[in-house]
Amino acid sequence: MDFVNTLPYISNPIEEFGDFTFVEWETGIYPKFKGGTKLEEIKFFAQIIQTHGLKKVLDLGVGSGLELSHIQKILKEEGYPLEHVEANEVDDSFITMSQELFSKEGQDIQIHKANWLDLPKATPPYTHNFDFAFLTGNSLTYIGGGTREYTKKAQKSVISKFAHMIDKDGYLFIDSRNYDYIKSLMNLPKQDIFKNFTFDYAIYYHGFQDGIIVFPAYISDTAVVLHYYDKEEKIWSKLDLYPIYQDDMKEVLSEHFEIQDIYYDFGKGTAEKSLFVQYLAKKK
Ligand SMILES: C[S@@+](CC[C@H](N)C(=O)[O-])C[C@H]1O[C@@H](n2cnc3c(N)ncnc32)[C@H](O)[C@@H]1O
Repeated sequence: MDFVNTLPYISNPIEEFGDFTFVEWETGIYPKFKGGTKLEEIKFFAQIIQTHGLKKVLDLGVGSGLELSHIQKILKEEGYPLEHVEANEVDDSFITMSQELFSKEGQDIQIHKANWLDLPKATPPYTHNFDFAFLTGNSLTYIGGGTREYTKKAQKSVISKFAHMIDKDGYLFIDSRNYDYIKSLMNLPKQDIFKNFTFDYAIYYHGFQDGIIVFPAYISDTAVVLHYYDKEEKIWSKLDLYPIYQDDMKEVLSEHFEIQDIYYDFGKGTAEKSLFVQYLAKKK
């Protein structure tokens, strides 16, 4: 049988794309995979900010900056100016991308360079707390280790760093891929993974399936390797991620936050099958 979750796929492309060139994910895959923002998604964030009267916004993993830029723009258009709009980023390519976008859009958004593990230390330093911090696009899952317990502990420590930067009664919006669903695909042959890892919509990453094929090529309960193939350019890349299961995320958040809402793909999916699971949590 043609199993997908076998060790070669940790580091190698699948046979069909064996001649593709490996590229850096951030610059080679992400821009096309990200595509643009979708108005209804941006409005979803804008509404959370407005309904709770929040004014100090921080994007904890800004990437190319598209979401943050669009959120600020929409709120301004709606006559709801924010007091502070800032971003955290560790990756130099992303810092350049987001800086270019903000300057093109004439937006004065400060980017702090920091590894989450070092927070609140950053360059330039943070000078105040926030009442709405968000981390979208499956990012916390970069943190983890060799056992489920270790991963939980490491992620808990990062969430704790975030918590200290958020005011009491402020909010954290955070998501992860639906690893419970991904895990349910473990042990399936490759063609079944392809068949099951399809959705009739995309969220956040609007180049998904159009330009870039994505699927979990290696699945264990402690590590998931997502493969990204650009068939036009004949390039590929991968991300090695530490799964966050839904029960674990609830536990990880509960130390400093009270979970107010859980969404599956902005309401389009279910707990059993969705691309992402999104949590809106209030700081205790
Ligand atoms: C999958 S990308 C998502 C980017 C963006 N939020 C989006 O949705 O397009 C993951 C983000 O997390 C950031 N990140 C990952 N590990 C990090 C760490 N240890 N410290 C700070 N940022 C980190 C990456 O640099 C990147 O911005």
